[in-house]
Amino acid sequence: MRRKLVVGNWKMHGNLARNKALLGAVLAGVKELRAADYGVCVPYPYLAQAQSMLQGSNIAWGAQNLSQHEQGAFTGAVAPGMLADFGCRYVIIGHSERRALFHESNDIAAAKFDAAIKFGMTPIFCVGETLQEREDGVTEQVVARQLEVVLNHAGAQSVAKTVIAYEPVWAIGTGKTATPEQAQAVHAFIRSRVAQLDGKVAGGLRILYGGSMKPGNAAELMAMPDIDGGLIGGASLVAEEFVAICRAAQQ
Ligand code: PGA
Repeated sequence: MRRKLVVGNWKMHGNLARNKALLGAVLAGVKELRAADYGVCVPYPYLAQAQSMLQGSNIAWGAQNLSQHEQGAFTGAVAPGMLADFGCRYVIIGHSERRALFHESNDIAAAKFDAAIKFGMTPIFCVGETLQEREDGVTEQVVARQLEVVLNHAGAQSVAKTVIAYEPVWAIGTGKTATPEQAQAVHAFIRSRVAQLDGKVAGGLRILYGGSMKPGNAAELMAMPDIDGGLIGGASLVAEEFVAICRAAQQ
């Protein structure tokens, strides 16, 4: 049985005072929940705050990006070892916003994946199709191509240390959610591709759904056999909503 995992992706939101209130309320709301795992991926400047508030709790923390380089003249970049220094468990890689707005290719995502694994962090590797691609009937091809970059290159041992997030681009921040059946179909497809590499790893792999997951749809999405939790954007900024989704993961 895979334990469910719910991770908040704060994106570029927050400030010290708001984060303090949000994390305080989330900590109080999830502290009794033991049947699932939880995390928040915060903007870099707030990693220290997340670390000091969440240390010893049942909420892990992480970042939303990292450099594939270990050190050097990369102005503005943040090295994997720096994230590890702040106790990051998770790092989101290949999010569609990184791919679309920052021109991150599959190859860059693969290099970042390796960097995260090397420094002992769990990559949350995102895949997903655009609306056009779904309408063109090429969802599986797109997802397979994004996934293959990691599968071909990382090997089963690394994939075993990974979380995959299926995030249909048309559902991110739009209020449109994939139906449980639509999401389940892609999740099962992802698991079957990983199974070609290693059946045991595929069976243990956590595949999160992301894209307008809210308290009102979280339980039915997470009831599907291959949906092992959620990567939550907008709703992770509202304590009651995030806590409600964390509770739904308990069932
Ligand atoms: P959303 O974002 O929940 O606001 O749709 C999810 C994500 O981009 O990870």
